[in-house]
Amino acid sequence: MATTLLCFDDEQAPAQRLQHALQERAGQVVELGVVERHRFPDGELKLRLPAPLHDRVVVFRGLHQPNEKLVELLLVARTARQLGAHHLSLVAPYLAYMRQDIAFRPGEAVSQRVVGGFLADLFDAVVTVDPHLHRVATLQEAVPVPQAVVVSGAAVLADWVAQRRPGALLMGPDEEAAQWVAQAAARHGNPSAVCRKVRHGDKSVEIALPPVQWSGQQVVILDDVASTGHTVAQATRLLLAAGVASVDVAVTHALFAGDAIEVMRQAGVGEVWSTDCIPHSSNVAAIAPVLAKALQAL
Ligand code: R5P
Repeated sequence: MATTLLCFDDEQAPAQRLQHALQERAGQVVELGVVERHRFPDGELKLRLPAPLHDRVVVFRGLHQPNEKLVELLLVARTARQLGAHHLSLVAPYLAYMRQDIAFRPGEAVSQRVVGGFLADLFDAVVTVDPHLHRVATLQEAVPVPQAVVVSGAAVLADWVAQRRPGALLMGPDEEAAQWVAQAAARHGNPSAVCRKVRHGDKSVEIALPPVQWSGQQVVILDDVASTGHTVAQATRLLLAAGVASVDVAVTHALFAGDAIEVMRQAGVGEVWSTDCIPHSSNVAAIAPVLAKALQAL
């Protein structure tokens, strides 16, 4: 069945990579359409979809810097339905607002539930990469769509690390990273370890290293996301104090807010690697083939 793959002008390159991966995998016709965007002087948006659409429509939108993109998705999804889309999927390599999954204080918005419900009203399927699910077990609990699909960047990062730091110890900076570290370590037989972390604030974390013979080890910190870089920085300081030979970093989502790269470098991090889920100079591992495989299975 032919598919229309919709994207925005700022994401044509990753959408094209997905188009090629889909065509290679499934040999199916995938037409790429760029949504036209006009901004009125008052800041409102006018969007125009390429018509006609195929029955099956995939919207590609990475949800880093998400606020305005959520309005775009509302306009695109409702319009795609009006134009005849029967099956509408969202491919969001990074899915925003997943970290606020409970109200820590009375009155706080549980953003995960609100944004997840919003997306579920618009789409039949949502495909994303390593979403930050902490207190919920599945993506479908957070985004209750009929098809909620999670893929991982751990394998492609593991392949990169295997070339650049063969045999390195893969370390998760907190318990949540255990799942990605386990996958990556199993792929090439690396040793692995996971820390305990307590967060005291946006830029303040306390980390306890597990009891490992650290001296002389090459360590790669592996995580779903680095944002302020303080988790990685604190883990790096502890590792270097414990006598490791080197610390490099591999993350699925290169959020790297503000001076994050500088914060990590100052702490002693060597190389910083990421998948191309979020465009960044650290991107080394392509996620399009992984996304294409998931879309083919829908
Ligand atoms: C949270 O548990 C995530 O897996 C990351 O460890 C966290 O989001 C990193 O945040 P930051 O870089 O701001 O410390």
